[in-house]
Amino acid sequence: MSILKIIEYGNPILREKSKEVTKISKKIKTLITDMLDTMYHANGVGLAAPQVGENLRIFVIDVSDPSGPINPLVFVNPKIIKKSGAISSYEGCLSFPKAYTTVRRYKNVMVKALDINGRPFIKEAKDGELLARAIQHEFDHLDGRMFIDHCRNRFEANNVLSKYNLPSIQEEFLIDEPELEEEIVTWEKQNPDEAEKLRKEIEELENGKE
Ligand code: NI
Repeated sequence: MSILKIIEYGNPILREKSKEVTKISKKIKTLITDMLDTMYHANGVGLAAPQVGENLRIFVIDVSDPSGPINPLVFVNPKIIKKSGAISSYEGCLSFPKAYTTVRRYKNVMVKALDINGRPFIKEAKDGELLARAIQHEFDHLDGRMFIDHCRNRFEANNVLSKYNLPSIQEEFLIDEPELEEEIVTWEKQNPDEAEKLRKEIEELENGKE
């Protein structure tokens, strides 16, 4: 078991496109178990290989309740084969210590990948559940993208980044998602009470941090 060093935003490795894994060798299996150890050690729900300095198409996720048994999910050479719907998500990343901001995500995703033994599997995540958002977040890392590239408000994102002494957003990487934004805004208009509740929850999370 080894805890690996997590690379922080600003390091160019995080902007590189990762390569497919050609063979799940002993070395790759060790990398995967070390990534899981590192993720649990950092209390994260997901970690992608580039975050530990390996530009390989691998990520790990565990969205289970921290008080219960662990449920590690390993994705090697993942492909998102279906995506639909839109949701506003409040996210952070182990490469951005303490910095959280609001981003756009698909609500439902279906992903095809290989497990740690090289066996193919399909995983579906729906209704904007944490797993659906985590899959998109980690998948992005493999293409050199990060959650801030999906931010709904670049001023809010930049404020948070500067607050935690991280480099500001890189305008050239911002992803324009007019369809997702439109669907989110429509939902917020149709569900003002729920939207307000979500806003309050985020505000409380923000205020609860030192
Ligand atoms: Ni991340």
